[in-house]
Order: sequence, then structure tokens, then C-alpha cells
Amino acid sequence: MNTSSLPRIAVLATGGTIAGSAGDASKTAGYKAGVVGVDKLLDAVPALGSVARIHAEQIASIDSKDMSVALWTALASRINELLAQDDIDGVVVTHGTDTLEETAYLLHLTVKHAKPVVLTAAMRPSTALSADGPLNLLNAVTVAASKDAAGKGVLVAFNNQIHSARDVTKTSTYAVDAFRSPEIGVLGFVQDGRVEFQRTVVRPHTVSSEFSVTDEWPMVEIVASYAGVSRVTVDALVAAGVRGIVVAGTGNGSMHAAFTQALVDAVKQGVAMVRASRVGSGHVMRNGAANDDALGSVSAGTLNPYKARVLLMLALASGVDDLQRVFDTY
Ligand code: SIN
Repeated sequence: MNTSSLPRIAVLATGGTIAGSAGDASKTAGYKAGVVGVDKLLDAVPALGSVARIHAEQIASIDSKDMSVALWTALASRINELLAQDDIDGVVVTHGTDTLEETAYLLHLTVKHAKPVVLTAAMRPSTALSADGPLNLLNAVTVAASKDAAGKGVLVAFNNQIHSARDVTKTSTYAVDAFRSPEIGVLGFVQDGRVEFQRTVVRPHTVSSEFSVTDEWPMVEIVASYAGVSRVTVDALVAAGVRGIVVAGTGNGSMHAAFTQALVDAVKQGVAMVRASRVGSGHVMRNGAANDDALGSVSAGTLNPYKARVLLMLALASGVDDLQRVFDTY
């Protein structure tokens, strides 16, 4: 086969269970994530050779629970550099499942190219019986090599499904179909080399995003409302100099009365406040379960608290002051 005409895809490895290793093939928990190098991951998938020419880089070797804003800056910057090259047609990022949705949304808003960027991961370590990583990697490269994937923002290829970075979230601690895009659903499918999109992405991203990656990340934290919550956490965050607080509220972003006063006090001191929901699906309406006009808060719409934090950090870093417009737009 003449492979010189195949798309050239950069595979950037960051660690995760896809690069995990356990002493025993029957172990799917209790392994060490992020220890297998990118060359070994690629060697496990000989079929990649008929899909794309691969350029591989080891960006990090971490368990994604330890993802940092510094690594986000390095990853987004490297992706932007690679995609600016004429000889790179797309990027695949291998990542841990635990914070994949946060990194994917960050890249969705800060990658400045229309070429495909696809994240993938695995629920079972590379040493496990029926490891899911090799097929997920093959499918991610297949999507990144597809012209149909261009211009759709950052994508997540997992378990034969293609999700938008904006909508996808991890919904299982163990199942190999761990990712869902609640209420909105998948963008498409990838199976046996065939990429099929069923819908498109309407909110702005990548080339039409107003945000860029930064190396000066404002302190933004998430606090949850629950039975018996006190104001202690919010007061401590304000004392620590927090710039923004995302509330993982009950129901439609409602908040315990004891805790609401602490948030009102924080807003008066210039802290940005965003109301999201801990429910896992649905939207948080402005002036719905709480009066945002009176509180000085912003509603997160359909973004979960973790994604709302990513957007709030980027908005604060870029000096945006009309935060509700940002949350209504992205
Ligand atoms: C991680 O997020 O790095 C560990 C868990 C996983 O990848 O499934």
C-alpha cells in the first residue's frame, strides 16, 4: 500500500488509563495510570498504518486527576503550533477519562484551527483483558484523518461514538461506555473505518472563539450546595483571593440560604459568581431558581460546573465583563 498520501496525524500522549499498567491482566481497577509510553500505545495498533502517517509526542505521563493549568497551557500551545504546520492534518490527544471533559472544552475554546482535534481515552488499562484503549485510539485517529471532522470543534471519540467537547461528560466509574452528552446526544459514530456525523455544532468554538490560551490563570473554584452546607468554604475562598466561584447548586442551580449570603458578600467584593447544577443534565435558567439580577450572578445554562469553571477562567483571564453573554454564547 502506498501510504505517502495518507493524512499525517499528530498523536499527543498525556497519560491516563489508556497508558495504564497492572501486574495482572484480570485487573481493571487498582492499576497505575500514565506509565506506558506513546510508542508502545501505537505499536499495539498496527492498523493505524493504513489510516494515517503518525507523528507522536509524549506531552506528559500523568493520571488526569492531576491535570494542571500549566499543562493545559503547554498542550493547547503545542496543538496550535502543530496545526499551523502544512504537514499536519489533525491531532489526537490521549488522555485520562477523569478530567477529559475539562481539557476537551478548554481546547474547544482555545485551539485556533479548523483541522480536527480528537481526544480519546480508555476505561481499562493497556494490560487488561479486552482493553478498550487500542480500538479507541484507532477510532480517534480515523476521525482526525476524516475531512468531515474539520470545522466541528474539538471532538471526543470513545466507544465508537463521537461527542462534542462542549457537551460530553463522564458518567460511569467503570463501564467502557463511560461518556455521554446528556440530553443533546452524540455528534456521530466511528466504526470499522467509517466516520458518520449525525448533527453539527452550533455554538462558537476554535476559530470563532474569542478566547486564547493563557499562562495567567485566575483562581476559580467550585463549591457545592447541599443539606446543611455552611458559609465556611466560600468565606475561606474569598480570604484566599478567589476571582470566581462556580456553584454546583441543587436542582436548577438553587442554593442553601445559609450559603447564599456568603456568596452575596463575595460578589460585593468583586468575585464573579456562576450558578450551575450538580444534577448532571438540564440547564440552569437565568433568574430561575435564584434571582441572578439581585444576586449579581450568572447562570451557566447547560454547562456542568467543571466546564463552567473552564469558561469562567478564560473569560476572567481575557478581561471580559459581560459574563452572562459569554455563558449564553459558548
Ligand atoms: C485518569 O483519568 O488518568 C485515570 C482514569 C482513566 O483514565 O480512566
